[in-house]
Amino acid sequence: MVDLDKIISLCKRRGFIFQGSDQYGGLQGTWDYGPLGVELKNNVKKAWWRRVVYERDDMEGLDCAILMNRLVLKYSGHEETFSDPMVDCRKCKKRFRADQVDHNEKCAEGDKHDLTEPRPFNLMFKTTVGPVAEENNIAYLRPETAQGIFINFKNVLDSTNRKLPFGIAQIGKSYRNEITPRNFIFRVREFEQMEIEFFVKPGTDDEWHSKWVEDRFNWYVELGIKPENLRKYEQKPEELAHYAKATVDLLYRFFPEREDENKQFDEVEGIANRTDFDLTCHTKGGKLVLADGREIPNAHAVNKLTYFDHETNQHILPYVVEPSAGVDRATLAFLMDSYFEETVNDGQRIVLRLHPELAPIKVAVLPLKKNHDGIRNTAMQIKNTLMKKSGWRTVYDDTAGIGKLYRRQDEIGTPFCVTVDFDTLEDQSVTVRDRDTMAQERVKIDALQDYLAKKLGNCR
Ligand code: GAP
Repeated sequence: MVDLDKIISLCKRRGFIFQGSDQYGGLQGTWDYGPLGVELKNNVKKAWWRRVVYERDDMEGLDCAILMNRLVLKYSGHEETFSDPMVDCRKCKKRFRADQVDHNEKCAEGDKHDLTEPRPFNLMFKTTVGPVAEENNIAYLRPETAQGIFINFKNVLDSTNRKLPFGIAQIGKSYRNEITPRNFIFRVREFEQMEIEFFVKPGTDDEWHSKWVEDRFNWYVELGIKPENLRKYEQKPEELAHYAKATVDLLYRFFPEREDENKQFDEVEGIANRTDFDLTCHTKGGKLVLADGREIPNAHAVNKLTYFDHETNQHILPYVVEPSAGVDRATLAFLMDSYFEETVNDGQRIVLRLHPELAPIKVAVLPLKKNHDGIRNTAMQIKNTLMKKSGWRTVYDDTAGIGKLYRRQDEIGTPFCVTVDFDTLEDQSVTVRDRDTMAQERVKIDALQDYLAKKLGNCR
C-alpha cells in the first residue's frame, strides 16, 4: 500500500495539494488545494451531502458563521477544557504534545530532551471583532462545526416543523491551533469537517447510534475504500469524553509503513452518542457540567432548546448522535486507497482508481494529432457538448503525445479518455479508453453520452 510520501509527491506534481503560503516559506499546519484537489475535495463533500441530506427524509442542512460569540464556546466547555497537554524542552525550547512526544528523540542541543511537566494549551484561535481590540470583543474561530448546529436547533425546528428523530448536517472550516501539526493534511490547523447532529428521543439513542455507525462505515466502502483498510473502534469507558455514552471511531490505515498493525490506523471519523449534554449546555436556564463535576449555569442563552413531545405532552431535551468526519482526512483516505503503481506493456504507470463520483475529471477528450484542424475542432466540440449536456467535468488536452496523455489522466484518476483520430472524421466514431482496464472501445459520437452515462452512473 502507498505511503504518505508518495501521495504528497503526487499531490504537488499534479496540482492536488500545495503547502499553504508556500511562496513565503509556508505556514505550518495549512495546505492549499490546487486545481485537482479542489475538485476532489468538493466531490467528497458533494457525495457526503447527497448521502446524508438528499437521500434521507430526516435531515436538514445548515451553514453557520465561522466566527462565534465567545459565549457559545464558554457554555460548550471549549473555553475551559478544549486543550491538549503541552511540554517544552528546557534545552532546545521545542514544544510537543505530551501524549505524542518521542522520549528517545535526540535534542538539537545534545542528548535527550529535558521536558517540563505537561500543562494545558487551549487549541482555539482567538481574535477580536470590530475596530477595538479589547477583552469585551473577543471571539473565536470555531474549533468544530457542531456548536453552530446546537445553537440553531430551535431555529431549524421552528422553521421546518420537523419531528424527532431528525438531524442537521453541516460542512465547513474549523480551526485548531494544534501544538504539532503533522502528517500532511492529517493533522492541520485549518481543516474542514462534515458533521451531523442527529436528534432523537431519549431511549432510542443506542439504536440510532448503531445505525449511524453502519451507515457511515458503508459510505466509505461504497466510495471505494477497501474494508480491510477501515476499522470500527469502540472507545473503552475510560477513553470516552465525560458526556459521551458511547463513541465508535472509524479508523483508516493512514500509516501502512508502521510495523505494529494497530498503529497503522487512525481516526477519519467519530460517531458519538452525546446524550443531551450539548442542548443542556446551551438551553436557557441550562448548565454546563464539566468532567470534574463543576457546574456552570447558563446565564446568557435566550431560548429554551427543548422539543414538545406530543405523545407525552412534555417538553424534552433530545439526545444527540453525532457522526463527525474530517473532509481532509477523508480526501486523504480516498487518495491513498485508490493509488496503484503498475507495470503495463509500455512501462510503468501510476493510476488513481478513484470512484467516478470522486474523480476530479470524469472525461478527457484527446486529439491524436493537435495540428490537424479537423481532429482538433471535432475534439473540442465533443468536449463542449459533453460538458454542457451531462454536467461532467470534461477537459480537452493536446499538450503531449497520446501515450503520455493517457498516463497523465491515469495518474489523476480520470475514468475515461475519448480519443479523436483520423478515422473519426470518416466514421463519426471515437475511441473510449477505460482507466482501470485500459480496454479501448469504438463508440459513435452521437451515442457517446449515453455510453458514458451508463458507466459513470449518476455522478456529476
Ligand atoms: N464535534 C466533534 C469533533 O469535532 P473531533 O474528533 O475532534 O470531533 C472530528 O473531530 C473529525 O475532524 C476527526 O475525526 C478528524 O477527521 C477531523 N479533525 C479533527 N482535528 C483535525 C485536525 N487538526 N486536522 C485535520 N482533521 C481534523
